[in-house]
Amino acid sequence: MCITIFDTTLRDGEQAPGASMTIPEKLHIAQQLAALGVDVIEAGFPVSSPVQFEGVQRVVKEVHGPTIAALARAVELDIREAAKALAGGAKTRIHTFIGTSDIHIEGKFADAKYGATLEDKRKTVLQKAIEAVQYAKTFTNDVEFSAEDAGRTPVAYLQEVIAAVIEAGATTINVPDTTGFCLPNEYADLIKSCMKAAKGRSDVIFSTHCHNDLGLAVANSLAGVQAGARQVECTINGIGERAGNAALEEIVMALRVRQNIFGVDSQVNSPMLMGLSKLVSTYSGFSVQPNKAIVGKNAFSHEAGIHQDGVLKRRDTYEIMRAEDVGQDTNRQISLGRHSGRHGFFSRIQTLGFSVTTDLKDDLYRRFLEIADQKKHIYDEDLVLMMKTLESDSSETYVLLEHLQVHVETGKSNLATVRIHFARTGDKKEHTATGDGPIDAIYRAIDHCMEHGYKLTGYHIRALSEGQDAVGEVDVEIEFQDRIFKGAARNMNTLLASALAYIDAINHVEAFRDSQDMVRHSIREKVEVDAQV
Ligand code: KIV
Ligand code: ZN
Repeated sequence: MCITIFDTTLRDGEQAPGASMTIPEKLHIAQQLAALGVDVIEAGFPVSSPVQFEGVQRVVKEVHGPTIAALARAVELDIREAAKALAGGAKTRIHTFIGTSDIHIEGKFADAKYGATLEDKRKTVLQKAIEAVQYAKTFTNDVEFSAEDAGRTPVAYLQEVIAAVIEAGATTINVPDTTGFCLPNEYADLIKSCMKAAKGRSDVIFSTHCHNDLGLAVANSLAGVQAGARQVECTINGIGERAGNAALEEIVMALRVRQNIFGVDSQVNSPMLMGLSKLVSTYSGFSVQPNKAIVGKNAFSHEAGIHQDGVLKRRDTYEIMRAEDVGQDTNRQISLGRHSGRHGFFSRIQTLGFSVTTDLKDDLYRRFLEIADQKKHIYDEDLVLMMKTLESDSSETYVLLEHLQVHVETGKSNLATVRIHFARTGDKKEHTATGDGPIDAIYRAIDHCMEHGYKLTGYHIRALSEGQDAVGEVDVEIEFQDRIFKGAARNMNTLLASALAYIDAINHVEAFRDSQDMVRHSIREKVEVDAQV
């Protein structure tokens, strides 16, 4: 029997600070999630911005197979916008939620209009939950209800809410541990208690949604499955609010490797996990730690001699699953080089989740040969970078680095010259700046070309591969109008990678500013939203 894998990389995952993705990036991820075999893709939160709205609409139109879900608070406007964004889809779901814990109720519904006492406010929340589900049902049969902060909600009240929303027509009941507070045994008990409220309705699916604040998101989700949950909400690489969500790849492999315990599996095509992980890491700008389970670079590397010897004699001495079953193939990582033919190159590109139209093939292969002339081994990271560069040459790019020159000499100040191309207007600006180091000089020169100042709040560099021609990966964080934007780039030339990562972050700022403009100019109806909900 298979459980439902509900992927929320594009909604809860994208809520991770600085992880915002462009619409083409979201579409690409959604297409790969469909190929991976997830059952539900939560594509966004339509009412929250026009970009979110359009993202959901595009996924509904262009991604086929999974059910496409959209999030909505328990208010009519949200539900209506979710329904509009989902319109025309073959399989769609409205996912509506409201906070049920005392902390959420007292915090969000403090105003006396929601009731004088906690008891009165609870009645208001219960009524809003029922009305939200009933309203969502007028658009689709598939309605999911989440009791936000269920992990800290008194059980008796939670059961009352769940019984009522099932009566109102909810088909999936999600039990979020919104703050990552629960321990596995507590979460399992919570799921069991919630299921009791269904009073034997076997057609209602109970779902886990666990956050990772105590590092227990996966353990709690699995405990929930053991307790009877038949849907798991999770994200690729575990990205999400704060410490993130349960990692899809860990859930899927735990269910598969320990089927003797769980007795359920998923439909996920696990050899695609590694490709998806790289894609999400590239688009979100969140790199994957080397020791991350399943998709970390070291997850299948054996360092100690005694381990290497054991694995050579018999793989299962130190391995509980095969690297190739999750798409980690250490041999293939270094198999591409100058002598690789077109076939080998394009099949690797495909494995990494990119589809290439025939007219682009010659250009792409030429770019590959150019890199191969500079580097002996071409790693997956190089290929993802190459594809990303190709994409950023086309849409969604506001600012391009056209030229970079850096002068470093002992005893002299560092000098950097940059030329910036503004893709939307065709304008170009060039500036030379000095700095405390070469990177400082580069960033000052770029800042001078832009009309806004950015505050660099984070800079991190690491080598992705080994040897003198190793690819350097740079992650930067910049602050603009009290928000954090991330940027990442990889290149053998670490100064160039530093400049490109900064430009990538600036492009995210510009995409954000664009979406703000869209909000301002939006002609969509202006309804006063109950900001408390
Ligand atoms: O963590 C949470 O409670 C959520 C809900 C909106 C489902 O993400
Ligand atoms: Zn969440």
